Amino acid sequence: MITIRFTNLPGDGIGPEVMSVALKVLETLGLRNGFSLQTSEYDIGGIGIDRHGSALPDSTLSACQEADAILFGSVGGPKWESLPPTEQPERAALLPIRKAFELFANLRPGNLYPELADLSPLRPSTVAKGIDVLCVRELTGGIYFGLPKSRETLANGEERSIDTMVYKTSEIERITEIAVKAASLREKKICSVDKANVLETSVLWRKVVSECIQRLDPTIESTHMYVDNAAMQLVRDPNQFDVILTENMFGDILSDELAVICGSLGMLASASLGTGKNSLGHSFGLYEPAGGTAPDIAGKNLANPCAQVLSAALMLRYSFGMEKEASAIESAVKQTIRDGFRSVDISSGSEFVGTDEMGEAIIDRLPA
Ligand code: IPM
Ligand code: MG
Repeated sequence: MITIRFTNLPGDGIGPEVMSVALKVLETLGLRNGFSLQTSEYDIGGIGIDRHGSALPDSTLSACQEADAILFGSVGGPKWESLPPTEQPERAALLPIRKAFELFANLRPGNLYPELADLSPLRPSTVAKGIDVLCVRELTGGIYFGLPKSRETLANGEERSIDTMVYKTSEIERITEIAVKAASLREKKICSVDKANVLETSVLWRKVVSECIQRLDPTIESTHMYVDNAAMQLVRDPNQFDVILTENMFGDILSDELAVICGSLGMLASASLGTGKNSLGHSFGLYEPAGGTAPDIAGKNLANPCAQVLSAALMLRYSFGMEKEASAIESAVKQTIRDGFRSVDISSGSEFVGTDEMGEAIIDRLPA
């Protein structure tokens, strides 16, 4: 019997509700497929601030260090919005945990099931067949973490602040490798997005990405696009892309754009993979839904659990090497949608079911 060891960090808002569904899905699948869960819950984000005085308490960090993966809910909410920006749960929990585990590769699959095509703000004719684009975002470099990062008052009294965008060859190479691996399992197309007409980091980015793809797999069709054009092309014709490979800030922006054209944030999962291997020799990773804490519907059994469940599937795939089990979860979610189950966010104003019922429907569709 295989045991999968991970920490679960439900966080704030809808986090705990959707986490509980994801854990039930994993437990049920485990019982049927011969694996068991060894998982404990730890505080992160706003609840970390309230209970331990820190958005990323030491106890949470050390538990994650002992685990093979992290299943993450979401953090933040109105209660903590008046804190200084650097102390707010999003920044004070997410950025340091990414850095602590060097989670440099953020995979955000943009999937729109054809059944949900009417949720996309794009024209029906553009999305009739659905959307399937994978955004591979560099997550621990670039302007998010570059130094100097500062704010000062000048002699004349005005303020000046600095962010620094910086990339090294090795950082670009390792994220390109991830994109190449991902593309080789898909349509073998990578579009690398940069701003090489303006930024030095992008000139380096473009050169290293080209060389790296050529070296790793010359059969991959690779293209380069400036970020402004990519933002436009994504709404014009999203399916021209297979894998989008880009640096940290461009990836932040484009992945939100991808999320909205895919209809609902409640459907989008993500994986952030580290340099380290876990005790099983797979990638250590953090798996989280893209949708945030949705404080307006928290605690009301209204949240869509699909993104959290799909994040658990990504965890099985990347941190535990359980491809078959990951696909089983993804198929169950797809079938749940096909069979007409809708949480409120994807109900287009028609009838909807609650978080729990959506979860039960997914569980009913797992392989026996
Ligand atoms: C994301 C978020 C974070 C980011 C914020 C909350 C720090 O927007 O995961 O995309 O900018 O990376
Ligand atoms: Mg973002």
